[in-house]
Amino acid sequence: MQVFTKRHQLESQVANWHKNNLKIGYVPTMGALHAGHASLVEQAIAQCDRVVVGIFVNPTQFNNQEDLEKYPRDIEGDVDFLKPFGESIIVFNPSAREVYGNHVKSMHFDFAGLEDKMEGKFRPGHFDGVGTVLKHLFEIVRPDKAFFGEKDFQQLQIVKKLVEIENLDIDIVPCPISRADDGLALSSRNKRLTEQERTEAPFIFKTLAEAKKLYPANAPTAIKQWVEQEFEKSKILQLEYIEIADEDTLETATSFEENHTYRAFIAVFAGDVRLIDNLRLN
Ligand code: PAF
Repeated sequence: MQVFTKRHQLESQVANWHKNNLKIGYVPTMGALHAGHASLVEQAIAQCDRVVVGIFVNPTQFNNQEDLEKYPRDIEGDVDFLKPFGESIIVFNPSAREVYGNHVKSMHFDFAGLEDKMEGKFRPGHFDGVGTVLKHLFEIVRPDKAFFGEKDFQQLQIVKKLVEIENLDIDIVPCPISRADDGLALSSRNKRLTEQERTEAPFIFKTLAEAKKLYPANAPTAIKQWVEQEFEKSKILQLEYIEIADEDTLETATSFEENHTYRAFIAVFAGDVRLIDNLRLN
């Protein structure tokens, strides 16, 4: 398995693959890899001839400096984790300078309102950072397909919009959320949970699963209120938001209508670790 840190290395490899008409899959990550990432890599290998796994902790998508500093990093562990995939993948682990040049700065995007709510509201500038880094990385990797987990469902919708507005010929492939046996959505941030927080954290998914049972007999506001009350019982977990929204537009649902698909979206703090999850209601 090769690990490239320089953009020119990857660019010449990619040019070669394109010349040979090979289909390129891309799995962008920020490292601290876990089984959820492995499932993205497996899907990419199944659907493409060559696969690039990106590892880059993107500074511009963190609205909070402390969150950026504390984000788990373990490049050696990540490389070991990916070794079983052998020659089927190339790892791209660039520096910020390789990706951004001298200006580590976000561009501003208009994602047609998808960026204003939920993660966008609570993490100002986050999606400009995600859009900027992916625009740069897509230019370097030039993939035919890119694979994104549904845990970051809002990000997934924004990436689809990015590809549309930038006119990129990339197929965005959504991949289901990987969960621990107790339901907790796998996330690099889980590594930062204390033992007690980790024990309590499955409450997030359990509450979403119970909320789903209230659909469609109860109105969206009633379901959200019920979730808020449930979280008041927890001493460890702090609810940041619960939202019920149309899956396509991410607009807040005020009532449930036919021919729409709805999802419950949640963000919760366990100590200073911020966890997100979501669940389709219908
Ligand atoms: O989902 C992530 O890990 C990041 O937001 C991404 C897509 C790799 C961009 O930095």
